[in-house]
Parts: sequence; C-alpha cells; structure tokens
Amino acid sequence: MSKPTLLVLFGSQTGTAQDTAQRIGRQAQRRKMKVQVLPLDDYNVANLISESLVAFVCSTTGQGDPPDNMKKFWRFVFRKSLPAGSLSRLDCAVLGLGDSSYPKFNFVAKKLHKRLLQLGASALLPAGLADDQHDLGSDAVIDPWLGSFWEKVFAVYPSLSDVTPLREDEPLPPSYTFHFLDDVNEKTEDRLQSPDVPSQSRPFPCRLVSNRRVTDESHFQEVRLIEFDITGSNIEFTAGDVVMMHPHNSPEDVELFCQMLRLNPEDRFTVRAADNTAVPARLPQPCSVRHLVETYLDIAAVPRRSFFELLSTFSTNELEQEKLQEFSSAAGQDDLHGYCNRPRRTALEVLSDFPHTTAELKTDYLLDLFPEIQPRSFSIASSLQAHPNRLQILVAVVRYKTKMHKPRTGLCSTWLASLDPEQGEIFVPLWVKKGTLKFPKDADTPVIMVGPGTGVAPFRSAVQERSAEGKHGNVLFFGCRSESQDFYFRSEWEEMTKAGHLTLFTAFSRDQEEKVYVQHRVRGNAQLLWNLIANQNACFYIAGNAKQMPNSVCDALKEVFQQEGGVSSEDAERMLEVMERTGQFQSETWS
Ligand code: 2AM
Repeated sequence: MSKPTLLVLFGSQTGTAQDTAQRIGRQAQRRKMKVQVLPLDDYNVANLISESLVAFVCSTTGQGDPPDNMKKFWRFVFRKSLPAGSLSRLDCAVLGLGDSSYPKFNFVAKKLHKRLLQLGASALLPAGLADDQHDLGSDAVIDPWLGSFWEKVFAVYPSLSDVTPLREDEPLPPSYTFHFLDDVNEKTEDRLQSPDVPSQSRPFPCRLVSNRRVTDESHFQEVRLIEFDITGSNIEFTAGDVVMMHPHNSPEDVELFCQMLRLNPEDRFTVRAADNTAVPARLPQPCSVRHLVETYLDIAAVPRRSFFELLSTFSTNELEQEKLQEFSSAAGQDDLHGYCNRPRRTALEVLSDFPHTTAELKTDYLLDLFPEIQPRSFSIASSLQAHPNRLQILVAVVRYKTKMHKPRTGLCSTWLASLDPEQGEIFVPLWVKKGTLKFPKDADTPVIMVGPGTGVAPFRSAVQERSAEGKHGNVLFFGCRSESQDFYFRSEWEEMTKAGHLTLFTAFSRDQEEKVYVQHRVRGNAQLLWNLIANQNACFYIAGNAKQMPNSVCDALKEVFQQEGGVSSEDAERMLEVMERTGQFQSETWS
C-alpha cells in the first residue's frame, strides 16, 4: 500500500485547536510523513471523498457553536443531500477541545464524529474530548489520545513504520523561508483586496474619530468609549452585533523583541511557504520586520507548551536546553504551569529568560514559533440611527497584578487606549459579526436588559435603535461601583428617561455599607417585571462579565416568578428554561 498523506484540518477560535493541529503536523514530520495542516474553511471540502487519512481538531465556542474558520465546512458537511457512503475511503480521527464549565461540552467534535461515521468514514479511535477546566491545559486528554492515534495510524498503514523517525531534539525544517530585500524601494503590495462587505480576510480600515475615558480619573478602572467612522465601508449592523479587530503589540515590546533577536525593524522581506503551507494572507509582500512583529506575531501572550518544544530543538546552550526540554515534557507540565500560566508570563518575557537560545533564533522559524495574533471582539455600543456612519465600542482597559513585577495588561484594550486621534489620522481595520443577542422586531414586545459595567454596551445600542424606531418598553438595569465614578452614560440615560424611551434602575455597589447589585434591583421590582414578562411577553437579556453575576440574576428572576406568579421553584426553573429555548431569555457573557 502506498504511503498516505495525513491531512490535519482544524477549526479554531482562540488558537488552541490550531496549535494542537500544528503539533500533530510536526509529529507527522518527525515520522517523515507527508502532512498538510489547514483551517477547515481553507480546505476544498469536495476533495474529502478522495482523502484516506484525516485528523480533525475542533474546538467548541459559545453556546456549542463551531469556530468561525470552520463555519462553511460545517454547513457543507451537514447537507442532507450528501450520500451516506460518500466518505467510505476515509480513515478519520476527531479531537475536540472544549470547556466543561460551558453548556454543550465539546458539542462540535461529538457531532462531527457522528456525522463522519454516518457518511461512511471509519474512525481510527473514539473522539478525544479535551477539557480546558483541567489545570494543565487539556494535556491530560490530548497526550494519551495522540499516543493511541499514532498507534492506530501505524496499525492501519504499516508501511509508515518503515522509516526511522527524527529524534525529539532534532529541529524540523521551518514551514516558511524569509528572503530579505536589498532594494528598499520595492513596492509593498497589500494582498487584501478592497472589501464588498468587510470580513476577517478583508477588513475595512476605519478612521478613529474619538477615544475618551468615561470613568472618573480617580476610579480604579479605566473604561473608554471609542468611536470609528465607517463611511464607505459597507459595514452594517444592528443592536447585539459585535465588531472584530486585530490588536497590535506595543512599540516597546516590538523594539525589545527586535533587539533580542538582533533584527532590524526597518528591514523588509518576502516570505515563501514550504510545501503545503499557505503564506498568511494578512502579511503584505514585501513586509517589514516591524509590521510582522507589531501586527502578526503574538509575543505578548502566555506561550503554549509547543513553544517550549520548538525552542528546545534550537537551543545550543546546555542549561537552557535542559530547562526547555523539561518544560516540554509531560512530567514538566506542573512546573511549566507555575512558571508561565499562573503568573501570566508573556512569550517575550520567556525569551528574555533564555537569552542564548533567543539570540540564535533563525528568522525562518518565527511563524512556526509564534502564533498569529487572534482577532478580538467587542459588543457594539451604538446604533446607526443615533450615530449614522459611526460605530462605538466600550472598552475596559485590562490591567492586573500577578507575582510578576510588571502589571499584566490586556493586549487589545491597552493598544486601543493608546490610540490618540489628536496625534494624526489613525485607521483600524474592522469587520462586523452577527452577535448572539437578538432583539424583537415587533414594536409591542418590551425588553428588560441587565448589563452591569461594560455589559451595558449592547443595551446602549439597543436602546438607541429601539427608541429611534419608536419601540417602547425599554427597561435597563445598570450596575457600577459608585454614582460619582463609573456611572457612564448617565446624562444620556437621563435624557432618554425624560423623553419616555427608557426606564432605568441603577445599583451602585459601593456607595453604601451593604453591597447593592443588579440582582437586588431585579428582586425589588418583582411586580413590574412579572407584569412585563407574563402579560406582555417581554424579552429578558443579561450581558457582562461571566462569574457569579449571570447566575445570581437568574436566581433573582426565578424568585420573581415564584413570588408574583405563585409558582413552585421547579416551575420557575422550567419557565426560565422555556424562555431560554424560545429566545425570550438571552445572555451574552464574557470573561
Ligand atoms: P463590586 O465591584 O463592588 O463587587 C460592575 O462591575 C458592577 O458589577 C460593580 O458594581 C460590581 O460590584 C458588580 N458586581 C460584582 N460582582 C457581581 C455579582 N456577582 N453580581 C452582580 N454584580 C456584581
């Protein structure tokens, strides 16, 4: 039997599934197999019928949804018209990455596995279901699953075991080669075409109009309202939609990285892909080192185990190599967690702990070593009716302490906070996605919205949109720490209330001895809420920081049902379930 090519197809939202897929790809390379690793939606799915060996690595996002880069594939593979035996040549393996604290744990992997078998494929082994809740970032499931995967592959394709694999400490060839240019005048070709409707592969550069802090200077948290001009972009959105963007690394991090790797940020290069790999579409050709490091390489994230695996194969410094090998090994995962994940140490900080290895790093390996900066999403906080041609977001600047000396900062929020339109024109490439929150179309359905802190963003958009459309019955519960420090949009709410568009309830948690939260206000307005929900079919929404808040608000709501509707706690629970199923109750939470 001839040797099959292994195809590793992934659906990844935050990069973990991609990293795992690439790890399988490298393990195949060590076994001198032909291998191709691709996002599912970059693969021509019609070819699947002629493949013999495919590993699928898929995460599950949100409420059991597939990641964005496998949505097309997902629609295709569940087409009713696909004949039952169409994948009968295929040996497949499915590895799922999920989080058991969310509903529908690993739903995508389970459903895909079932569907592939239905279409006639043979499973090499049961689907692997990794759980992010385990301390060690899924390794408890992934490593053993990979072990059995390779065993099965060699059992089914014995011809593959004729070769001597590369040793673990031997470097693999890079997936890309960099060609530095002498001609400084060579024109850069931006390979992203101008968009019809902007999307991840074709975002539209939107001008930054304003960027202002909305919490008091003395308040512990910096929250900013940021406005973009979307004129000419073809971007459209309604309340509940989200806007996406790629953040940049800070100029200081870019300088430091270039110094450590002895790179000149002004140098320009073209990049070529080795077999079966695509050059990232987001990189212009030629590209400057600065552009690559600033906008593409995720050097400020906590590195994954594969980063240490790769680094260890380059190192020629004995001490450093030994430490890197330990961090890459299964036995070293507790230590790696303590060194990296717990203190949130960045890849850049790791590099500075391994100066010899870093100084020797070859440019060709940069794209193998560092994952791509992932896009970030924000709930849109404005409506086109109230702010034509404008799109606003509400951003809490993330900053916290760990045992590291320097405070930890969120990459996107810190970058956004640093953008000052007074210093010259700034354009940020944006695209918009449908959100999970949907607001009623008919004018007679009231809405009850619970959005403490920046959770209020989608509801500001909804209140603006609904009042412009003459939709009444907008009830908002807003919570913050103090009336004087972080009660943003206060004057807007007051105007809307005066105009009869809004009923607002506030919870200022720290303006008195006892904590007052939005759920207390929900309980305190039981009669009004019951009347709206039971008699007027009102929709109920929660948005904001996950943790305890959404659960506490649900508990308060069930108490309202019991108290005002005179139902048992079981019936109240059931009522909420029905509301959730029918879309009368919706929530969007983030961490
Ligand atoms: P706190 O910080 O005083 O605890 C926006 O962040 C608001 O949400 C703040 O007033 C914050 O109060 C409050 N908050 C924190 N935890 C909460 C919870 N479990 N339920 C509801 N609100 C909460």
